Amino acid sequence: MDELLKIKEEALSKITVCTSLKDLNDLRVFYLGKKGPMQAAMRSMKDMSKEERASFGQVSNKVKQEITQAIEDKKVALEEAEMNEKLKNETIDITLPSHVLPLGSIHPLSMIREELEDLFVGMGYSVAEGPEVETDHYNFELMNIPAGHPARDMTDTFYINDTLLMRCHTSPVQARTMLEAKGKGPIKIICPGKTYRRDDDDATHSHQFSQCEGLVIDKNITMADLKGTLELFAKKMFGEKREIRLRPSYFPFTEPSVEVDISCHNCDGKGCPMCKYTGWIEVLGAGMVNPKVLEMCGFDPEVYQGFAFGIGLERVAMLKYGIDNIRNFYSDDLRFLNQFARKD
Ligand code: DAH
Repeated sequence: MDELLKIKEEALSKITVCTSLKDLNDLRVFYLGKKGPMQAAMRSMKDMSKEERASFGQVSNKVKQEITQAIEDKKVALEEAEMNEKLKNETIDITLPSHVLPLGSIHPLSMIREELEDLFVGMGYSVAEGPEVETDHYNFELMNIPAGHPARDMTDTFYINDTLLMRCHTSPVQARTMLEAKGKGPIKIICPGKTYRRDDDDATHSHQFSQCEGLVIDKNITMADLKGTLELFAKKMFGEKREIRLRPSYFPFTEPSVEVDISCHNCDGKGCPMCKYTGWIEVLGAGMVNPKVLEMCGFDPEVYQGFAFGIGLERVAMLKYGIDNIRNFYSDDLRFLNQFARKD
């Protein structure tokens, strides 16, 4: 009996000072396992009288229960302590000042593109796309610029091979859209996208730039529709007071063709360096779709007419924001880009 009580005292004091779940488990295995001191004490039962054995059995059961209970209580306490420690370590101080996350800005060319998309989608146009690597057929032939045509010289581009090239304008999307429509109107699309030319880079020229093509095909479309559309474009991009002026021009894919001037938004048409003191700024090319193009692209020119326009996105952005070097658009200079950062 003394031995049992000694074992109990020893076990309870060890359990009390135990500080880890692993040590606690070792104590459990030792005191309650087959090879421990309890089991050894039990073996002496075989030499006892029946009465002695009964009371010894009672006491040893009680000791076992007490040790088991003590281990269980300690286990709960240790687990709780461990959890508290973990919570303490993982506590986030939400009162600490946060880092300011840098926000990018929308690129000025994207801003112009999005404004144009909003304007034209609002008038019922859809936004079309075409490949930047284009065939000679779509880029030139279907736009009424056959091999050897002088217009090819003005818009010389980069060739992948004899038939594949980097598109020099977004106009081939006109042909792609018309052919897809299989001779049935109406068509109302714009196509913003990248374009390429074998130009020497300078302040106003870049070998890669962006355009936005526009195409409307329907019955009874006249030059008045084109003029009204472009007037709206001018006012939306450069302010309500803008007026437009059409000058005769030449593009192989339109007949008649016009060059479109917008009254200078910088001086209200009075004359300033931006408009070279003329009061007008040349902004884009446009015209009535050439019947030859309609025919090549599957439309009957006796039934359908259309107008088209091509807007240079860099040119519009440079005029609108007073940017004097086209290279700024492509140089990723944060001092430039940050000027277009969100203000909200
Ligand atoms: N494709 C012409 C260019 O790159 C721009 C253009 C002019 C497009 C007149 C048109 C248009 O659709 O009607 O210079």
